[in-house]
Amino acid sequence: MTAASDAPAPVIAIDGPAASGKGTIAYEVAQALDFHYLDSGSLYRLIALRAIERGIALDDGATLAGLTGDLEVSFANGRAMLDGRDVADALRTEAVSAAASRIAVHAEVRSALIDRQRAFRRPPGLVAEGRDMGTVVFPDAGLKLFLTASAEQRAARRHKQLIAKGISVTIDGLLRDIRERDARDSTRAAAPLAAAPDAVILDTTDLSIAEVTAAVLAHYRERTGAR
Ligand code: DC
Repeated sequence: MTAASDAPAPVIAIDGPAASGKGTIAYEVAQALDFHYLDSGSLYRLIALRAIERGIALDDGATLAGLTGDLEVSFANGRAMLDGRDVADALRTEAVSAAASRIAVHAEVRSALIDRQRAFRRPPGLVAEGRDMGTVVFPDAGLKLFLTASAEQRAARRHKQLIAKGISVTIDGLLRDIRERDARDSTRAAAPLAAAPDAVILDTTDLSIAEVTAAVLAHYRERTGAR
């Protein structure tokens, strides 16, 4: 075997704050390269949903970490399935978003999820998005990106998405939630939201999804020499 065939599958790590567009961008990049895709936030959201359903306190890190073992999770056509039921919409509610951010502060929960996330790394490659993909889960990723956008722009984007789904929310309420989540995600002791020192930082405030996707692919091609 050659050294090249022993090399682990390539990883593109995309991190950033809530509603920075990283989910959509990561998915588009994975489609363009025919890579696997990991939405790591959905794992935190699944634990949050289960904790809410079972009435488990969100500050009980050890019990929450125990929930990671028996999560029967799968993704069918991009929809998250928990124990065979479609929970994609349930995972996106503001209650689950806030609970996910609260349970993600626990080091026990984070370490219980590490191997599960690394198992997504398979040939031909993986695009992984979250908060600590480049810093903790895939520190050897060949390309790391950190997407930012102003809190106002992120609230406006989320507002548009929710209104399109017929969910009534105010921009002010969303802005407040986003600021709260940013503060909690960036100041927690365990794997806080931060750009890896070797990450490319992209401010997407004035860019469209297509422009950001093209920029990420250009960085990847530049790194790998791929066409
Ligand atoms: O990306 P998201 O909004 O779906 O993530 C939901 C929550 O999970 C977010 O508030 C922080 C947490 N999270 C995390 O701590 N680390 C990750 N790699 C992904 C998400």
